Amino acid sequence: MSTPSRKLEHIDIVLTESVEGPGSTWFEHVHLIHRAVPEVDFDEVRIEVSFLGKKLKAPIVITGMTGGHADVAHINKAIAEAAEELGIAMGVGSQRAALEDPSRVESFSIARRVAPNAVIIANLGAPQLVKGYGVGEVRRAIEMIDADAIAIHLNAAQEVIQPEGEPTFRKVVERIEHIASAIDKPVIIKETGCGLSMEVVDELRRIGIKIFDVSGYGGTNWVLVEKHRAIRKGEELKAAIAEDLSLWGIPTAASIIEARYIAPDATLIGSGGVRTSLDAAKTLALGADLVGIAKPALEAYYSGRLKLYLKSLIHGIKAAIFLTGSRSIDELREKPVVITGPLREWMIERRIDREAYEIARRKTIAKGIL
Ligand SMILES: Cc1cc2nc3c(=O)[nH]c(=O)nc-3n(C[C@H](O)[C@H](O)[C@H](O)COP(=O)(O)O)c2cc1C
Repeated sequence: MSTPSRKLEHIDIVLTESVEGPGSTWFEHVHLIHRAVPEVDFDEVRIEVSFLGKKLKAPIVITGMTGGHADVAHINKAIAEAAEELGIAMGVGSQRAALEDPSRVESFSIARRVAPNAVIIANLGAPQLVKGYGVGEVRRAIEMIDADAIAIHLNAAQEVIQPEGEPTFRKVVERIEHIASAIDKPVIIKETGCGLSMEVVDELRRIGIKIFDVSGYGGTNWVLVEKHRAIRKGEELKAAIAEDLSLWGIPTAASIIEARYIAPDATLIGSGGVRTSLDAAKTLALGADLVGIAKPALEAYYSGRLKLYLKSLIHGIKAAIFLTGSRSIDELREKPVVITGPLREWMIERRIDREAYEIARRKTIAKGIL
């Protein structure tokens, strides 16, 4: 199946089938402490951040999902309009289809046309870098949308299940290093729902990567998306393998902690299963600089409520900050975070020193963010 029609099928499956879980993000094991006497006026709460040289009104990124087909241009257009109006960032989906067929460019470039001031992030997959895309293709993807950065996505679990997948990742770190050193825009390394471990973040920051989107486990599950594609194609073996691997991944809360612990000065996007403003507030409290969401934005758009959803997310983040007695994200991180159950055990098992982590999660935003 061609890249563009696969993209349409992905959107259809994400909107109509059950593609989340079966495991969780572990946000339920992260607790913020309610402060009955906030000693703050709600109007004082500020959540603006700088990102990629621009000011965001709220620390939110709608992460890359789509483009590559005339029939999905309206999605990028709507997301871009919302990003421009609300002062948040957005990514486009993989631009591979447009690099291979210039008639597909419009479905991406429309985002920049309707959002001239927004932070917009380009997107290509690591397997394409391994299989031949070079600096030229990466520059074209950036120029196509006048992007502020490019996200290189890692999707090994999806590739290994996808009927026409390309699970070719040998020398991937070397390729990323080569590309990142040759282009003049920042490279964001992003997962796609299985999370980044501290070992991976450490390896990549050593080659100069400064921005990571953890995209952890517990939200959109690409193994399940590919399971549904395999079922639709009658590929029983692939579907059974996917079912077997559907719990694979690092829960988002654990991935944020790992990444922040090992890279206190990196810019972190916490994403993967962020659904509510409470999830978002926990993401920020755990040390992420920005919150990433994908599927909820798509669903909200299809139900005619994209801006409503985003506005409620923004209000809710401010409310949670207020209810901890804080005026800003920095102050939120000064407040205690209680970590319980398997997440606490995970930290012990992974030898994450709690004191060092506490220092790392507080030392973000204003100081570290790009
Ligand atoms: C319909 C859809 C298409 C996606 N396509 C891409 C893509 O092209 N490139 C990419 O880096 N991530 C892609 N993603 C992954 C998201 O950016 C995100 O990392 C992941 O879905 C987890 O976030 P969520 O649980 O909020 O959906 C896609 C997600 C969805 C729902």
